[in-house]
Amino acid sequence: RGVPAATNAGLDPMGTTAARIVGTNVAKLADFDDTVKIWVHEELVDGRKLTDIINTEHVNVRYLPGHKLPDNVVAVPDAIEAVRDATHIIVVLPHQYIQHLLDTVHGSILPNASAISLIKGIGISDQGMTTMTQLIHRTLAIPVSSLSGANIANEIAEEKYCETTIGCQDPDEAIVWRSLFNTPYFQVNCVADVIGVEFCGALKNVVAVGAGFIDGLHLGNNTKAAIIRIGFLEMRRLAMHIAGGGIQESTFMESCGLADVITTCYGGRNRRLAQEFVQTGKSMPQLEKELLDGQKLQGYLTAGEVHSYIDSCGVTDHFPLFTNIYQICYENKPPHTIFAGLNVDFSRD
Ligand code: 13P
Repeated sequence: RGVPAATNAGLDPMGTTAARIVGTNVAKLADFDDTVKIWVHEELVDGRKLTDIINTEHVNVRYLPGHKLPDNVVAVPDAIEAVRDATHIIVVLPHQYIQHLLDTVHGSILPNASAISLIKGIGISDQGMTTMTQLIHRTLAIPVSSLSGANIANEIAEEKYCETTIGCQDPDEAIVWRSLFNTPYFQVNCVADVIGVEFCGALKNVVAVGAGFIDGLHLGNNTKAAIIRIGFLEMRRLAMHIAGGGIQESTFMESCGLADVITTCYGGRNRRLAQEFVQTGKSMPQLEKELLDGQKLQGYLTAGEVHSYIDSCGVTDHFPLFTNIYQICYENKPPHTIFAGLNVDFSRD
């Protein structure tokens, strides 16, 4: 029998949302143990430990308030305890914390375990750009799949219909991951393109920052649609530049691609923060602290990581939107400079 576990540093409602879905599903799956352990970064809420609150009241009052978790989701404050017996490890946390988590659990993972990453971020190293599944695989030496889609966590927790995409190379493993996540309101489609799925999930956050700038400038729907279109094409161009034939074009039309760009550019936190950035003149980290109550975002960090990659490759002129967004975030360029040089020809991509 498989044993699922989810890792969630808190800091993001998606980890708890995923545990809620998987907990409900495993209770009905004969092939899986009933308990889902979820690692929760311990903190005090009104003087009580968050893990104790989750395990008695079955609500993550801090990061997913108002949504009951099934009783078989058990919060633990120790990441090693969460993954020790797990055959199926769900990795969800803001990407800036991943290496620390991997270093912590390294050596405590079952040799037959496999993982799935729900992280929407990328890493930069000496070897260039690294996806989260590559990083997890490199550290833990287990098979790693990806899950990403037009998935605003609170809407999923309200059980409003949506789709998601699982990228998994092994068809048998894909069936197992699908059985853990699929519900009538969370429709999973599997593709054999692990890194295509995660590039989409990470790069769309940069586009969402651009969309938020447009909202902050009160420029309306046509302008935002233009930014979404160009951003989507730059996402595809960059993913192809990095991974070339390793990515399937059709992945961009899955929920993890076009649909996630749309939902994040209209309803995401990255969009909201970028709008406030324009309207208040405050820095992104300051706004994150003031507005998001402990949650951490990826968009402006990914804009910096993308820029350092395209700059080191000498191809910034192929990515004018990503470059402009970077310069607005990090180099004090005014938000209306987002339009500079956007008349790019994508017809041969
Ligand atoms: P934000 O992190 O901008 O809220 O985006 C959520 C998301 O990824 C929706 O799929």
